[in-house]
Amino acid sequence: MTSRTIFMIFWGPYCGGVEDTRGRGLRDLRVSVTDRCNFRCPYCMPRELFGPDHAFLPRAELLSFEEIAKLVRVFAGLGVTKVRLTGGEPLLRRDLQVLVGEIAALPGITDLALTTNGSLLAELAQPLAAAGLSRITVSLDSLDPTAFRLLADTRLPLESVLDGIAAADAAGLPVKLNTVLRKGVNDAGLLDLVEYARAGGHTLRVIEYMDVGSTNGWVHDEVVPSAQVRARIAAVHPLEPLGDEGTAERWRYADGAGEVGFVSSVSKPFCGTCTRARLTAIGELFTCLFATKGTDLRAVLRSGADDEELAAVVGGRWATRDDRYSELRGAGTPGLPKPEMSYLGG
Ligand code: GTP
Ligand code: 5AD
Ligand code: SF4
Ligand code: SF4
Repeated sequence: MTSRTIFMIFWGPYCGGVEDTRGRGLRDLRVSVTDRCNFRCPYCMPRELFGPDHAFLPRAELLSFEEIAKLVRVFAGLGVTKVRLTGGEPLLRRDLQVLVGEIAALPGITDLALTTNGSLLAELAQPLAAAGLSRITVSLDSLDPTAFRLLADTRLPLESVLDGIAAADAAGLPVKLNTVLRKGVNDAGLLDLVEYARAGGHTLRVIEYMDVGSTNGWVHDEVVPSAQVRARIAAVHPLEPLGDEGTAERWRYADGAGEVGFVSSVSKPFCGTCTRARLTAIGELFTCLFATKGTDLRAVLRSGADDEELAAVVGGRWATRDDRYSELRGAGTPGLPKPEMSYLGG
């Protein structure tokens, strides 16, 4: 069978977009470029478990930029328009701007974003913007310097992140701020973050703490439901709804000072409209943040497969997808080990 025939049989039906078993298209791709991070946020990479002896992925195992770009091209052919680079901390991957340039140049990719802890952004914002990055999201859980260090479990100061945000601004990159709010941990600092984001013209995304992975000791009691968070903000700055988009419920400040978003995967799951695929740093395709198993695309890639053959594998996998973990919670993966956030890229 020629590769053309294989293409027609397997990929032909997916031209113009593939759908899963629940009718959800494949539109977004989150690409993890490393599982390493220079922070040790306890909810993501607790130091006891991610210490000096932790076996991170060997560098030789990682997909090369060329391999990532080739896979993104294949995903674009199946309907992906939005790509987000993640980690671990993606800015630890050397010369990331080269990958940004390659992905930004791919036909069909209209939005190329990056989620970062911001600590290395002061130096890198300008080259990333010049390479074609569309926008950036910086994780920031507190504006109190001492609390920040505890929450990120890092020796780096809060200033390194704030300088990074300023550099992204100066480079013309739209900035969103991600705050994972936990009851009794950092919820007292919510309004400081709101004021900081409003003053800087950044969209704050307040995120419900999720039971992702199996090392963070997640407890439901620490989740602050978005409805409560929104009420606290609206009591100071009245809000008007803008509707849902992707992971977030968007609201705008009635006084015109921009918007704020709520990611409520615990209190109000958004699986019904989930069009996101994830690619790990070693080339596994995960069809859900909570999936217990991925599909090894690197093996297919390194066996010499061309774009059409790769598309058949990706499209075929997507067509069988039925994930909706956040709607099912623990019942969706009873007793099975879930991969860590730092491995899957959030
Ligand atoms: P935008 O493209 O700006 O809307 O960003 P995003 O919300 O898709 O990405 P970001 O990396 O900023 O993630 C925000 C939060 O949503 C993080 O806590 C992610 O882990 C979480 N998140 C992203 N995608 C999914 C998803 O498909 N399912 C669930 N349950 N959470 C997700
Ligand atoms: N629950 C919710 N969000 C999380 N993040 C990391 N761990 C969790 C969790 N357990 C966030 C990070 C980052 C984004 C990719 O995911 O803060 O902003
Ligand atoms: Fe690193 Fe982000 Fe995980 Fe914190 S949440 S440890 S910054 S990858
Ligand atoms: Fe998508 Fe899985 Fe998240 Fe639901 S839990 S929104 S299916 S990634």
